[in-house]
Amino acid sequence: MTVREATRGWDGPAILVEGLRKSFGEVQALRGIDLEVARGQVLGMLGPNGAGKTTAVKVLTTLLAPDAGRALVEGRDVVHSAAAVREIIGLAGQSAAIQEELTGRENLEIMGRLYHLTKGESRHRAAQLLERFDLEDAADRPAKGYSGGMARRLDLAASLVARPAVLFLDEPTTGLDPRSRMGMWEVIRELVGEGATLLLTTQYLEEADELADQIVVIDHGEVIAAGTGEELKNRIGGDVVEFVVADRTHVDTAVAAVATLGEGSPSVDRETGQVSVRVGAAGSNALVDAVRALDAAGVRSEGLGIRRPSLDDVFLALTGHGADSAPETRGRRGRRSGRPEHAGAR
Ligand SMILES: Nc1ncnc2c1ncn2[C@@H]1O[C@H](COP(=O)(O)OP(=O)(O)OP(=O)(O)O)[C@@H](O)[C@H]1O
Ligand SMILES: [Mg+2]
Repeated sequence: MTVREATRGWDGPAILVEGLRKSFGEVQALRGIDLEVARGQVLGMLGPNGAGKTTAVKVLTTLLAPDAGRALVEGRDVVHSAAAVREIIGLAGQSAAIQEELTGRENLEIMGRLYHLTKGESRHRAAQLLERFDLEDAADRPAKGYSGGMARRLDLAASLVARPAVLFLDEPTTGLDPRSRMGMWEVIRELVGEGATLLLTTQYLEEADELADQIVVIDHGEVIAAGTGEELKNRIGGDVVEFVVADRTHVDTAVAAVATLGEGSPSVDRETGQVSVRVGAAGSNALVDAVRALDAAGVRSEGLGIRRPSLDDVFLALTGHGADSAPETRGRRGRRSGRPEHAGAR
């Protein structure tokens, strides 16, 4: 089905979510989520482990029934018209849906048949996607021998066989190396260029920044902020002073020295010795103040500078913890190493 066929007769947003709630026993995974995605746009859903991202995606893709609220995909209710929703969506979930015994090509061809493409069409589509995802060399090997990145690409390819009008990608680049991640971004941009609507979850703030037209930040099952990347950055105001402590044993001294310059506690990456402080509207004075404070404390710093806030800073300001310091332990995949810790929060 083409995007135009899938969206006929509905001129509301491609995705509309109102007051969505879902609990698992005591755990309130979604506590009343509202969001809208206009057709052809990319919504980045950003949140730490356990925020409720996958739960939201599962409800929107009809895999899980909500307890309350409603969700429409191109005007079709995910509860009452689940089959109609499934006709127009694609999903690449957090755990790959490919069959390991089959080759990459077989996986894609079978997916085509499931979506009622003819044998010839399925073969053609499979070949096209294998090329696009750089999987041609491995196409005729069983998928169980694929690397994590290859399996991830095959999974995304499988979600595209039917050319869905609305696509859900749950952490599409978690676990990919930087080159594969860039490749995935390119593919995602192409898809959107073809008119697809996309909801993508991620823990990588730079990924949301790079791909999303709109971003919702969720934490503990609630939307805590929404807007474009720029809007979110402007919201916290001010800039960030950043430097690296030359002698790692002086990190704590450095943090104490600059703690009063900014708003909130400095964030620290102990591995690299990098310290960042949000400095509000003070701007260039803050840089001079930082130099003086470090001098007075006898700390030698490198690369002292001031920059615009990143989404990482936004997340820290909104939640009081970094994007990867969720209350529970991290999942199997996707631990980001070397992310700053929040000096004050622990
Ligand atoms: N089937 C389930 N049974 C019980 N609890 C669940 C279930 N699925 C999710 N949860 C809980 O609901 C909360 C939200 O989980 P969810 O998987 O939606 O988070 P997430 O944002 O996708 O996290 P991650 O970044 O780790 O993928 C968590 O506390 C999780 O433990
Ligand atoms: Mg998840």
